[in-house]
Amino acid sequence: MSEARISASILNADFGSLADEVRRAADGGVDSIHLDVMDGHFVDNLTMGPVVVEAVRPASDLPFHAHLMIDDPLAYVDRFADAGSDLIVFHVEADGDPDAIIDAIERAGRRPGIALNPETAAASVLPHLERVDMVLVMTVHPGWGGQEFIADVLPKMRELRDEIDRRVLDVQIGVDGGVNLDTIGQAHAAGGEVMVTGSALYRTTGSLAPTVSALREAAMKEATERT
Ligand code: DX5
Ligand code: ZN
Repeated sequence: MSEARISASILNADFGSLADEVRRAADGGVDSIHLDVMDGHFVDNLTMGPVVVEAVRPASDLPFHAHLMIDDPLAYVDRFADAGSDLIVFHVEADGDPDAIIDAIERAGRRPGIALNPETAAASVLPHLERVDMVLVMTVHPGWGGQEFIADVLPKMRELRDEIDRRVLDVQIGVDGGVNLDTIGQAHAAGGEVMVTGSALYRTTGSLAPTVSALREAAMKEATERT
């Protein structure tokens, strides 16, 4: 079982000093930065646009994962690519043709990812597995940080893991929402690899290094006990 990757969701960070918070995560040893983009339509919250991504881009060389919770991802792919996103994740429930959105992300020279909400079946993303680098499985209803992990999503995560392995695809499974020391193990054991964590990380003051390594250990401990 591969080691869990930790991705810092800055939605839960101190927005008054966002670049410093990106640096704090990078210095803490996370593997990537997760940027939650919300348009007030796809979800009932408004968070950050390309200008924010561009503003914090110089703070770290780590991969930037833009999680687009917006109705019209196709209209914004180029702007988030130009702002410095490395991986651009759109929702299968959003408007537009997923193949056209993936084409646009690839044309912009970025890596495509597709996300699905807790209530959305795995079948909705299976037609696109060959074309994406990540499937982001929402373990909360998108819109806010600090929500409770929905364990009912785990069988779907296992289903996606088995299908990716059966097709021998190089597709990572991301897990987003309510990931903390109590839930990261079961998510990793169900096939999750890139663990997005916000409130569990940023409620820590000072160095994030102890929290990041504790999350990695908790992921591996439960995963090895279950295999
Ligand atoms: C929710 C976002 C998540 C969220 C994670 O819609 O997509 O990335 O910020 O925060 P926690 O880890 O607090 O659930
Ligand atoms: Zn997210």
